[in-house]
Amino acid sequence: MLRLRPLRASDEAEFRAGHAQLAAEGVVFGLAFEPGMPWDEYLQVLERFRAGADLPERFVPSTLLVAEVDGQIVGRVSIRHRLNDALLREGGHIGYCVLAAHRRRGYATQMLRQALVIARSLGIDRVLVTCDDDNTGSIKAIEACGGRLDSVLPGDSGAPGVRRYWFD
Ligand SMILES: CC(C)(COP(=O)(O)OP(=O)(O)OC[C@H]1O[C@@H](n2cnc3c(N)ncnc32)[C@H](O)[C@@H]1OP(=O)(O)O)[C@@H](O)C(=O)NCCC(=O)NCCS
Repeated sequence: MLRLRPLRASDEAEFRAGHAQLAAEGVVFGLAFEPGMPWDEYLQVLERFRAGADLPERFVPSTLLVAEVDGQIVGRVSIRHRLNDALLREGGHIGYCVLAAHRRRGYATQMLRQALVIARSLGIDRVLVTCDDDNTGSIKAIEACGGRLDSVLPGDSGAPGVRRYWFD
């Protein structure tokens, strides 16, 4: 049973460990998280992101939720409340990642399915989700949730292309 929920005070150690693990893979777990940051400050940053207050340049309001299974954090989703030019082209409304120890168990698929419902509850009628053209796990998760392939943008200088899917 996977559920998405906001971060809370007691998540600090687990979240910091997850952030470090994914950073070693070059993946951002905690959006705008700096390892030296006090935990309560990070929770306040996320609250401001959700409310759309004091956003850094090029940020849109967003909600970060962690995915919990049997009391453990297994991944996170970030739901962008609207698109800017960069998100419309490449980033999409929903980003997600699963910690390495918890992959290949259907969690990304479940996280995306639940995040789509939350996105709709935020008033987003058409949801854009993107992934790299060589990211088989993500492609399968998006297609299992019913994403309709719109386009594949060419990657820059040897990088994989970007697949753009809409959920209507
Ligand atoms: C991509 C990622 C989110 C997949 O998470 P996951 O929880 O392992 O995905 P799921 O278990 O829901 O897998 C969905 C499908 O893809 C398959 N799959 C997952 N990872 C795969 C891989 N590396 N290679 C091939 N197939 C893979 C699964 O077997 C499953 O197939 P099925 O539906 O036929 O059973 C995870 O690997 C990850 O966080 N990677 C790093 C960050 C990232 O790429 N985020 C996504 C950006 S768009």
